[in-house]
Amino acid sequence: MRILSGIQPSGALHLGNYFGMMRPAIDLQEQGDAYYFIANYHSMTSLFDAEKRRQNVVDVALDFMACGLDPERCVFFKQSDIPEHTELTWMLTTLTPMGLLERCHSYKDKIAKGLSPNHGLFAYPVLMAADILIYDSQVVPVGKDQKQHVEVTRDVAIKFNQTYGDTFVVPEPRIREETAVVPGIDGQKMSKSYENTIELFGAEKPLRKKIMSLVMDSRGMDEPKPDADRNIAVQLLKLVGSTEVASACEERLRAGGYGYGDLKKALFEAYWTYFEPMRQKREELAANMDYVYEVLAKGAQKAREVATVVNQRAKRACGLD
Ligand code: ADP
Ligand code: TRP
Repeated sequence: MRILSGIQPSGALHLGNYFGMMRPAIDLQEQGDAYYFIANYHSMTSLFDAEKRRQNVVDVALDFMACGLDPERCVFFKQSDIPEHTELTWMLTTLTPMGLLERCHSYKDKIAKGLSPNHGLFAYPVLMAADILIYDSQVVPVGKDQKQHVEVTRDVAIKFNQTYGDTFVVPEPRIREETAVVPGIDGQKMSKSYENTIELFGAEKPLRKKIMSLVMDSRGMDEPKPDADRNIAVQLLKLVGSTEVASACEERLRAGGYGYGDLKKALFEAYWTYFEPMRQKREELAANMDYVYEVLAKGAQKAREVATVVNQRAKRACGLD
């Protein structure tokens, strides 16, 4: 089974990235032939600072490896080391109906949030389709917000196969229902672009402050809360805490007499403990950057071997050889 996923170096990684995509991807590396990459071409649609992009790539590499991505078990690389992604993108663009891209929620959401509607932002799903198709990927682990992009990829692959003959494997998204949409500190989907994230790594004090600032309702402490399962802190606690602690806190809220402050403290403790081993691993990796760069260089070499073959296959199919 060929597995592939990517993550943009557009800011610090957060709990939504971790539970929505990184954890499932790390688990899948045991089950197949996995390719994971840092989508720095994609980050050009919203980040216009070269030095930040460079630094973010390093941070994503450190974060992902600290969390358990194992370069011995998967191919880990940065997108721009494989220029064939962009070459294949062009071949796919001419078979992508405008309407398909116009319907993409992610594009519409980004415009609504004030991002400038540049052509790259609009064409972004075609680059993502190339990323996926160029490795003959079968399974794409992502959070729910990316499902539509994998569907676009399927449509484009099918259209190419119909037009030029069987060329691409048609992939499937893999979404974990329980973590499909991780809520942010304001209750909306946690996202780098909503400024509502809880980062995976960083100094203790500001992170504690962030968690203590989780938005709760105004009901008094003594009031029973029968809807405790919908509380953001409870939902996050179910991800980072033990089942016992999470259900105990939920029950206490239901019963009444348990304050939101104590709940948030329990959440912070669970979160801090959960990422303790990863923090240590990250420090070790950061002290050995040569190794990290070597992982990405070797990953690029392996990825390119596959990408050049599939790119050639596509060029042959459409008469560009
Ligand atoms: P962001 O929305 O913060 O910019 P990305 O678009 O870089 O995050 O997402 C990288 C991966 O993490 C994608 O697979 C995406 O679906 C997943 N992801 C991001 N936020 C969440 C979330 N709140 N819940 C579940 N998955 C998420
Ligand atoms: N678009 C994805 C995101 O913002 C990142 C990405 C780029 C990706 N190419 C991909 C994910 C290919 C999966 C497969 O999260």
